[in-house]
Amino acid sequence: MTLPATLIPGDGIGPEITDAAVRLLDAAGARIEWDRQLAGMAAVAAHNDPIPEQTLASIRRTRIALKGPLETPVGKGFRSINVALRREFDLYANVRPAKSILRGLRYDNVDLIIVRENTEGLYSGIENYVRIGEDEHAAAQSMAVVTRVGAERIHRYAFDLAVRLGRRKVTLVHKANILKFSQGLFLEVGRAIAEEYAGKVAVEERIVDACAMDLVVRPEAFDVLVTTNLFGDILSDLTSGLVGGLGLTPGANVGRNTAIFEAVHGTAPDIAGQGVANPTAVMLAACQMMDHAGEPEVAARMRTAIEETLRERKAVTRDVGGTATTAAYANAVIARL
Ligand code: NAI
Repeated sequence: MTLPATLIPGDGIGPEITDAAVRLLDAAGARIEWDRQLAGMAAVAAHNDPIPEQTLASIRRTRIALKGPLETPVGKGFRSINVALRREFDLYANVRPAKSILRGLRYDNVDLIIVRENTEGLYSGIENYVRIGEDEHAAAQSMAVVTRVGAERIHRYAFDLAVRLGRRKVTLVHKANILKFSQGLFLEVGRAIAEEYAGKVAVEERIVDACAMDLVVRPEAFDVLVTTNLFGDILSDLTSGLVGGLGLTPGANVGRNTAIFEAVHGTAPDIAGQGVANPTAVMLAACQMMDHAGEPEVAARMRTAIEETLRERKAVTRDVGGTATTAAYANAVIARL
């Protein structure tokens, strides 16, 4: 059976790194029928729309997409692409694993996954200024929205993921001691969902500030973490830093019936077109995609080949201390399959 999937090469280094990921998938035996679509600046050039209807229609049909980084055009009238995709497909779970691959960094034993709520919290977009006297911007307020339904589905996603991957623990990360209502509800729901998984996976609770410190002091103590939008955004960049930076970090955006996989980094305009970008993050996103598509053996083979090639450091790109081109590194990974 072939898997229909949408491929969005993206802007800047996007086409170079997604090409490497597509070659790796192909060599690993993933049978994917790609539907190539435009988004970002490439789509603005072609259709004057950074996220054209035909790209959305393709994802609606395939329900699975691999996406290169996109440049959101500056200026009025253009929608933020990532927000548009998240809203359109209700991609409520942002899943960002951080695993030590390279040796010789400050940490060599990190292996955790942050599950970030992607649609609510302080990023709900409900904000306003308050006028006092002559000052129209005398105050500003942003509303953190937590719904029971939203909290339930993200906690359930995290616990299901932990069970599926044989993980030992889920950490509920919150600030319910201060934000008694929004964070309080998130924690209350998390505790209830945790009970459903009692005996299958352990659970602990951490207040976000203490959690940030613990992640730096003893990251090996963490496994799966689940948290609200803002905290997840910040903590997942922190955990990327623990394992060598954004260039090695993939991210999945998952909804009830659609998922989009990507690298966490941007379009790297400073090195675009030079063939020197590191495709590891988007290759690891392709591994997440294969796990999601029910092909864990293909994902595991690709991951092992990537990790071994990186650890050997013979044919790696210059951002991780090598001299290999994007294509030469991809070839080295493929040769190890
Ligand atoms: P960036 O992540 O593109 O680049 C930051 C630095 O990291 C640069 O020095 C770049 O050369 C380096 N870098 C990034 N990925 C690399 C890779 N795979 N291999 C080697 N080096 C790599 O962040 P920046 O410069 O802030 O953003 C550039 C553009 O990307 C902006 O237009 C931004 O909107 C967009 N962007 C898109 C994202 C997405 O589509 N998911 C996410 C983040 C930014």
